[in-house]
Amino acid sequence: MLKRNIAVGLDIGTTKVCVVVAEKDEIGKLNVLGNGRSNSDGLQRATVVNINKTVAAIKAAIADAERESSIRIKGVNVGISGAHVNCIHSNSEISVNQTGIVNESDVRRFLEKAKTNIKYLDIDHEIIHVIPQEFIVDDQDGVLDPIGMAGTTMRGSAYIVVGLRTKIRNIKQCIEKAGLDVSALTFEPVASGIAVMKESEKKSGVVVIDIGGGTTEVAIYIDGAIRYSEVVKVAANDVTHDVAHGVKALHEVAEELKIRHGYAYSKMLDEDETILIPGIEGRPQKSFPKSSLTMIIEARMMEIFELVRDSIKRSGYYEYLNAGAIITGGGALMPGTEELARDVLGLDVRLGYPEGVSGGIKGSVNNPMYATVMGLVAHSLQNSIFEEQRETQVIEGPFKSGDESPGEEVSSPVAAGAPSALNPAGNKIVDRLKKFWEQL
Ligand SMILES: Nc1ncnc2c1ncn2[C@@H]1O[C@H](COP(=O)(O)OP(=O)(O)OP(=O)(O)O)[C@@H](O)[C@H]1O
Ligand SMILES: [Mg+2]
Repeated sequence: MLKRNIAVGLDIGTTKVCVVVAEKDEIGKLNVLGNGRSNSDGLQRATVVNINKTVAAIKAAIADAERESSIRIKGVNVGISGAHVNCIHSNSEISVNQTGIVNESDVRRFLEKAKTNIKYLDIDHEIIHVIPQEFIVDDQDGVLDPIGMAGTTMRGSAYIVVGLRTKIRNIKQCIEKAGLDVSALTFEPVASGIAVMKESEKKSGVVVIDIGGGTTEVAIYIDGAIRYSEVVKVAANDVTHDVAHGVKALHEVAEELKIRHGYAYSKMLDEDETILIPGIEGRPQKSFPKSSLTMIIEARMMEIFELVRDSIKRSGYYEYLNAGAIITGGGALMPGTEELARDVLGLDVRLGYPEGVSGGIKGSVNNPMYATVMGLVAHSLQNSIFEEQRETQVIEGPFKSGDESPGEEVSSPVAAGAPSALNPAGNKIVDRLKKFWEQL
């Protein structure tokens, strides 16, 4: 039996469902074996609202990825997002094992303890995953990887991602109805960050902004660890709605106009021209100035970045973002977005493409739209001892989609991440936790 290090990421987005099958090569980079994509119609703002439509979209994307990779997919690392997801910082302290050298099981105990330290998790919420932030081994602080260090006690903090039970259940139901297993759930901004950040940026301080169709996700990394995340409920589909309303056209027409002629920033528009817009149901076509289209788009994109700026300021980390911002997600592809983001956020900005891909069908995923799914697959393959590991099973082909005959079984470690963070303002859980600590 051949053991290969293969993992599968599944991003159930508001506009598309996509799947990537990849394996780790000898130098630790990703070799993409296959990907699949289908249009998503069962979600609103990254939350499942129609199970059957979502299941159908997952099945279609999985079938594509299976065909391309000749891998039968069983377990998937699934992205989860939406305004119901919150993050909590939790502290933990354990005694190091008898050898006096920190080992993997110490780290696992540390994380378990961080989870149980959340005493006031609402009954309707559950933990999605836990991410260690930093460790203090005896007196040595700022340790990101404590394994092998000598000490007697290990303290530190963890970032715990929690979400509404019902919404998590809906995602799990969709996966199971599509005939798959949930190997792990990962908060989408965490996944996007993993895909697009360079190590130097993560250390210097950076904010990753994923502008999707239904949500804009913010994740802040300082000194190599995640510190804050938030889901903003305004994104690129709102731009399309505004265009449809502004030019009085069908949604599909507005989407095409936006992508073909759109600019996020009027400063970037060289010369004005007239665009012809097809009329609805046989009505005559209309003409519309490109400058007016740009103004509509700019207003909404500016609102998105103002909300992101508020979020960053609320986090308290604005001054620490030495590497600035990375914008990613499909919404970041609009020309002028980098420039607008730079001016509104007051930070250096670059466009984030999935990093660390060495080969395979690399070109097919080389797009900011695939940041989340590439982060999901990379997270699974990180094989981090800091996080819970579960088995993702895939069955190696060749086989045709729909063919039941299994090939060789390949298992791969999948990491269930674990974030925590300052919470978005108004977070009930954090407020309760604060009250609890104040009462002590
Ligand atoms: N070339 C482009 N120019 C401008 N906008 C684009 C371009 N390509 C895609 N988009 C926009 O990106 C959005 C989709 O982005 P993405 O695929 O990241 O979203 P999603 O993951 O499905 O949604 P979410 O993350 O909110 O659940 C759409 O609104 C689409 O119009
Ligand atoms: Mg997305």
